Amino acid sequence: MDAFSKEELIGKALDARRESYSPYSGFAVGAAILTDSGKVYSGANIENASFGATICAERTAAVKAISEGERKFRAIAIAGSPSSAEDISFQYSFPCGICRQFLREFALPDMKVYIKGPLDDIYETTLDELLPHSFGPENLS
Ligand code: THU
Repeated sequence: MDAFSKEELIGKALDARRESYSPYSGFAVGAAILTDSGKVYSGANIENASFGATICAERTAAVKAISEGERKFRAIAIAGSPSSAEDISFQYSFPCGICRQFLREFALPDMKVYIKGPLDDIYETTLDELLPHSFGPENLS
């Protein structure tokens, strides 16, 4: 049993979302990753005046975990919506294609993906479902 429930992980993603730097899109995202060591690393999207330099919340959280020595991800929670969104209007914000592939590198089999929806709803899926027949480190050996 994980030390963090999906509700708690979504709570961490929402906390991280408060630090989103998204003046261009007005779309604030937070993410929280649970690693196999039982720790949680969170992050927000960070935009740039040169739009292509923007970093998604999922990759912010992932690089924080990896640069602290983590290598295996058990789950990620994502909370994204326009900055003004209230709980009641929160939209389901799925990870972009680049983030799916980035997470794939460090995903344990059956890595869970939890997405915040309106009110208390949480959509639950797996990385494998979001990125089927994926390419990973094993393909290179
Ligand atoms: N964004 C994320 O943080 N994660 C995603 O998976 C999709 C998009 C951010 C990037 C940009 O700052 C804003 O949402 C609008 O695309």
